[in-house]
Amino acid sequence: MGYPHKPHSKETVVLSKHFGDPEARSYKGWTKRGGYEAWQQAQTMAPTAITDTVKESGLRGRGGAGFPTGLKWSFMPKEKKKPHYLCVNADESEPGTFKDREIMRWTPHALLEGTAIAMRAIQAEVAYIYIRGEFTEPYAIMERALAEANAAGAFGGLKIHLHRGAGAYICGEETALMNSIEGKRGNPRIKPPFPAAFGVFGLPTTINNVETLAAVPHILKNGAAWYKAMTLSNPKSTGTKLFSVCGHVQRPGNYEVTMGFPLKDLLYELCGGVRPGRTLKACIPGGSSVPILNREETESCLLDYEGAVEQGTMLGSGGVIVFDDTADMVYQIMRLARFYAHESCAQCTQCREGTAWTTKILERILAGQGKTADLDLLLDLSENMTGKTICVLSDSCAAPVVSGIKRFKNEFEDYIAGRRRPVMVA
Ligand SMILES: Cc1cc2nc3c(=O)[nH]c(=O)nc-3n(C[C@H](O)[C@H](O)[C@H](O)COP(=O)(O)O)c2cc1C
Repeated sequence: MGYPHKPHSKETVVLSKHFGDPEARSYKGWTKRGGYEAWQQAQTMAPTAITDTVKESGLRGRGGAGFPTGLKWSFMPKEKKKPHYLCVNADESEPGTFKDREIMRWTPHALLEGTAIAMRAIQAEVAYIYIRGEFTEPYAIMERALAEANAAGAFGGLKIHLHRGAGAYICGEETALMNSIEGKRGNPRIKPPFPAAFGVFGLPTTINNVETLAAVPHILKNGAAWYKAMTLSNPKSTGTKLFSVCGHVQRPGNYEVTMGFPLKDLLYELCGGVRPGRTLKACIPGGSSVPILNREETESCLLDYEGAVEQGTMLGSGGVIVFDDTADMVYQIMRLARFYAHESCAQCTQCREGTAWTTKILERILAGQGKTADLDLLLDLSENMTGKTICVLSDSCAAPVVSGIKRFKNEFEDYIAGRRRPVMVA
């Protein structure tokens, strides 16, 4: 995406409408563009009415799991006996995903407005926006926007704090994030109890992703029916979604499309296709934690929660990683496994040992020292790493390995049989 942002005619720009417009970053500029009108409206509504509107819109969490947002808000205790908290997940560490960063960089007030509305809906007085530690520029922009909004008295008695991330991928997992805010090591907690019962500081908490909250003011302003009508395929996936496209395409960047948009059109039209003379080989459509698709599956995939599952993958966080025919899939999968081994918090044996062992086997195969039995060993290991740990980091390591062996087995076999020149991995 170039700046100033000129959207493709097939994009539906809601969240990204003001990307590239520096004036939209200021409080004055934002209010001039209709900003904070939804927050004014929310203050006249009962908290349950806000939650019901969001429920009705069909908005689902954009952080990866796609959990219905209004339903999540309704889990908070109705009778307020203790303080309630909102945590905003701006950790964005999933490889391939870079959209929350852009929301904060260009439209910081959209996030603050969505945060204030969510706080009213769940009756929270305090919110923590947990911003990935490396996001120096987005942090500074958010800091300035918050100071301006507070100076204008925009949030009344609500307290919104910015919190710098601790520099670990695992801190994006919701309960690890809460531990990190509390000043502890960012290790995930066993659930239940879920955050609505026992969240940050042991108190009722809701956690939402940046993109999820940035969509909320638009829903309030334009109505649930308007949002719900934005779908090209399945009524269970509504609204628009930002997709961060990287890898072997001619025009990488963030693209906002209506749910159900064909992945093929995103890659070949909006992103200009792969490089000249190359063909598409594979694609990971939802960030590094979801199964890899081959070319045929990529070309059939609709970008919504159900469409992705239909092709054997997930929509995840919307980080689209593209591989052309020059990509060495064994090497790419090793790189992913190595990332997860590095980022495992090491609490669970299956994850700590499984991610490291998986990486070692893949490195061995690449070095030309693999055995045919290694493929079964990798699958067996992956099976033991799926659904057996406190959080899904180890599942995320298993997903590209299992799907990669399924779709690109010949590439693994070529290394094992000595038909491919060994790769020395540093
Ligand atoms: C290892 C791991 C890392 C995660 N990282 C992020 C992240 O960086 N940003 C995010 O919004 N959600 C992340 N999530 C998902 C969160 O746990 C949680 O589902 C999300 O913040 C909920 O918000 P939503 O319902 O608005 O999507 C991660 C999950 C796991 C297991």
